[in-house]
Amino acid sequence: MEDEILRLKSEAHVALADLGKDDLEPFRVKYLGRKGLFTSMMRQLGQASAEDRPRLGKLANDIKQELAQAFAAKQDALGGGQQGVSAVPSLDLTLTGRSEPCGRPHPVTQVMEEVCGIFEGLGFTVAEGPDVETDFYNFEALNIPPHHPARDMHDTFYVSDSLLLRTHTSPMQIRTMTEQEPPLRMIAPGKVYRCDSDITHTPMFHQVEGFLVDRKVSFADLKGVLSVFIAKMFDADTAIRFRPSFFPFTEPSAEVDIGCVICAGKGCRVCKQTGWLEILGAGMIDPAVFAKIGYDPDQYSGFAFGLGIERIAMLKYGITDIRLYYENDLRFLSQF
Ligand code: PHE
Repeated sequence: MEDEILRLKSEAHVALADLGKDDLEPFRVKYLGRKGLFTSMMRQLGQASAEDRPRLGKLANDIKQELAQAFAAKQDALGGGQQGVSAVPSLDLTLTGRSEPCGRPHPVTQVMEEVCGIFEGLGFTVAEGPDVETDFYNFEALNIPPHHPARDMHDTFYVSDSLLLRTHTSPMQIRTMTEQEPPLRMIAPGKVYRCDSDITHTPMFHQVEGFLVDRKVSFADLKGVLSVFIAKMFDADTAIRFRPSFFPFTEPSAEVDIGCVICAGKGCRVCKQTGWLEILGAGMIDPAVFAKIGYDPDQYSGFAFGLGIERIAMLKYGITDIRLYYENDLRFLSQF
């Protein structure tokens, strides 16, 4: 059998040596093709004794590969020797093309659009306002007078005594209410700024404010709207709870938690073993705020809520460091 293999080898090499351009394909079929001599030789190896088989198999394989290489070289040589076509390297038209890299919206933008889409589906209108705000809209009108302790929590960047970078999107409640009459159903997405930086805080982040003002709006309406939002944003059966809290511009106020999306409420590092994750602040608009902008608190009531987009995106995608959003590393961004 070994002799047979070696004989086939020298026969093939002799044939290859004086091959013309037209003989290339017949040669390939005869020796290297699927039904060629080498293939049928390999098949016959089954009859060799078990102890010879591995050695012979390797020998036949090596020879076939060597022949395939010599054949490829011959093909190149013959192709290159020709006039005209010659200078053009052979093109493999079956190769797939290289696609242009394609950009996409930033994950924060994607989540922002998703949040806005859900509220638009509930009949809310989108409004946008300035990042540089007056002290009046950001604090005063929201029932946070100068020296109010709530100002400490905001770590404000001041531009001048009366101008600042807005610390939340709540000033949009005031801007809208002073320009329009109820009934109002608005959301206001945008950038907000606080002098704070660690794995869960960046000095600039995004919020979506939402509020609804009409006659006879109750806390039950707030609960209904937020429950629908959370069921759409996360899983339909995500647990939700309202915890009493305080904001100067809402009364009563609540912080809203959802059942931890990482551990399903069992307790883990992300929910600090509580099984709950805080995702937004909300409440009934304080009558004092209505009084400041000239709505009659006896006629109108309303609710408001504010949620942090980066935080929601972190929970949705299991991201543990908020700064990843702003490092512009394509390996991170292209996953969304
Ligand atoms: N503006 C609050 C904050 O940034 C959130 C909030 C909005 C709370 C609306 C109640 C109502 O923390």
